[in-house]
Amino acid sequence: MKNNPFKLSILGIFIILGLWATAQEVKLKVDATSVAKIQPTMYGLFFEDINFAADGGLYAELIKNRSFEFANPKMGWIEPESPILSFNTDSGLSTIVKYAGYTTNHNYINITVNNPDRYTLINEGFRGMGIKAGATYELSVMAAQESGAIEQIHFQLMDEAGTVIGETSITPEGKSWKTYEMAFTATKTAEKAQLKISFQGKGSINLDMISLFPQDTWKGRKKGLRKDIVQLLDDIQPGFLRFPGGCIVEGRTLAKRYQWKKTVGPIEDRELLINRWNSEFDHRPTPDYYQSFGIGFFEYFQLAEDMGAAPLPILGCGMACQFNTGELVPMEDLGPYVQDALDLIEFANGSTDTPWGKVRSDMGHPDPFHMKHIGIGNEQWGPEYIKRYKVFEKAIKEKYPDMIIVSGSGPFPDGEYFEYGWEELKKLNTEIVDEHYYRPPSWFRENATRYDQYDRSGPKVFAGEYAAQSVGTTSPDNKNNWDCALSEAAFMTGLERNADLVTMTSYAPLMAHAEGWQWTPDLLWFNNLESYGTTNYYVQKLFANNAGTDLIRITEEGVPLTGQHELYASAVTDTRTKELILKLVNTADDTQEVSVAIDGIRLNSKGEAEVLTSASLNDENSFDAPKAVSPKTEDIKLSGGTLKMSLAKNSLTVVRLKTK
Ligand code: AHR
Repeated sequence: MKNNPFKLSILGIFIILGLWATAQEVKLKVDATSVAKIQPTMYGLFFEDINFAADGGLYAELIKNRSFEFANPKMGWIEPESPILSFNTDSGLSTIVKYAGYTTNHNYINITVNNPDRYTLINEGFRGMGIKAGATYELSVMAAQESGAIEQIHFQLMDEAGTVIGETSITPEGKSWKTYEMAFTATKTAEKAQLKISFQGKGSINLDMISLFPQDTWKGRKKGLRKDIVQLLDDIQPGFLRFPGGCIVEGRTLAKRYQWKKTVGPIEDRELLINRWNSEFDHRPTPDYYQSFGIGFFEYFQLAEDMGAAPLPILGCGMACQFNTGELVPMEDLGPYVQDALDLIEFANGSTDTPWGKVRSDMGHPDPFHMKHIGIGNEQWGPEYIKRYKVFEKAIKEKYPDMIIVSGSGPFPDGEYFEYGWEELKKLNTEIVDEHYYRPPSWFRENATRYDQYDRSGPKVFAGEYAAQSVGTTSPDNKNNWDCALSEAAFMTGLERNADLVTMTSYAPLMAHAEGWQWTPDLLWFNNLESYGTTNYYVQKLFANNAGTDLIRITEEGVPLTGQHELYASAVTDTRTKELILKLVNTADDTQEVSVAIDGIRLNSKGEAEVLTSASLNDENSFDAPKAVSPKTEDIKLSGGTLKMSLAKNSLTVVRLKTK
């Protein structure tokens, strides 16, 4: 067919118009007058022991089931020469024994060694143990001779091929329980090492609390936290740390709820609990997921303090998880639950001559933790929650009128539970309401205006759990891809623009073990040796590191940028660093030109921008390319009070300009 010159020229006009339209500069204005304070708690962290976040993750213990307390007390332990596996009664025998009279640490192991050349006991770790060449490891064990003469106990780290990569031994002395501590250096790096225990001499011996930690923990604390993971968290400069969850607070039944009092004091006395995520999802079973409470409430408070974050503990309110049993404590039996909340405040803030303040002090922290917030209930809904919340609120406010109580609006960002929760909590004049949204990326882009019309005379908002789901909530196929992260960035400009109302926000969940997870996406991923921040992590970090102190307006013709031209924006000033900070999100598939005329502030002409973008919306970070999607710094120039910038397609740009 011959070309039609008329059609071609029309096409040409459209192309030119199209090019002209995309090349159009979006003209923005910034008025540097403060319109609201940004709360120091604006961007925080939500920690839950899901995905092996505590045992097998943040808690640097390398031995799984160190105290033989799992439902199957030998889970995690292998006896290659045992009678059970080899039917060879010659080598030795181990049995689990119950302590007489112990109420929290129930079991220990008794080992009878008949043939020391053949009997061994191996711990498999949490999907193996991450061991680093040249690093020092600290082993501790409780032991008591029962009979005969076990002369030595050898502990050997073996790599995947069975090669010994570090070892130490102890000489057990006497029949009473004694704790032995040794340190040794590993000779080789292994991601999936195991610890082999073997014996010299024949006899019967009792062992418990077999524990192995790297010496190099966060802040060098003995039996402490994994340094690389805390570093990633600390780099965010979080405004608060919410703990310990999440649904884990509630328990699948009330008996299995999180009880903070059982998580403080000597670690061997912290009674183990099955982790509620152990069997929550049939498609992600983790039968070896337990809570040793090596990280308990003291450690959470300490971690918050280390990071300069406000502690935000969340307590159960007498309702088991409503997605599970929904078991309720009768109202007349709520007293001990309320008392737990009051005692927690005393534990955190009380003087050392109060009973719970003394517990904190005895654990090594005489100074108060300065806790200002407490959450009552995690993700509860319906009238039973409101009834229980009222009782907690009354008791807490009577004794601690300044304590800020976080209430919740249920698991969804809209619908019946949400509406009911908000209506009732407003009537109660509560201070801050927690909202959760696990929604598709498009929802996040479309909801950048979510808070623009919220009632300013009611409670403040805590965006307590949110994350864009690339496939759907709880789908194991969800990705931490750039599409999700970029959409969250667009949404977060809406959180920030409403900082007078939204005073706390946190992505969820926080972290996941690459081989032990139940829920994806997560803010950071780790294996036994390494950890990395996702694309979403870098969005959170950019917002949190640039939170500012004062909200200011950035508009196009007087209107906030909430998706016009596929652009989103928010702006703040920081009176401490003397900076003006702009956050600009371009969700278009094209570069966009913007000019920003800045009024009401004198600025240096030179500044910098951090640009976070990636070629494809499907891009993710990984262990192999942990910073594939991470911010790049560019110089920027202000000319005559106006900033001109090309915003890369699908990008988040954070501009920082110093004031004069
Ligand atoms: O973040 C995972 C879970 O999602 C939390 O435990 C719960 O609060 C929410 O339903």
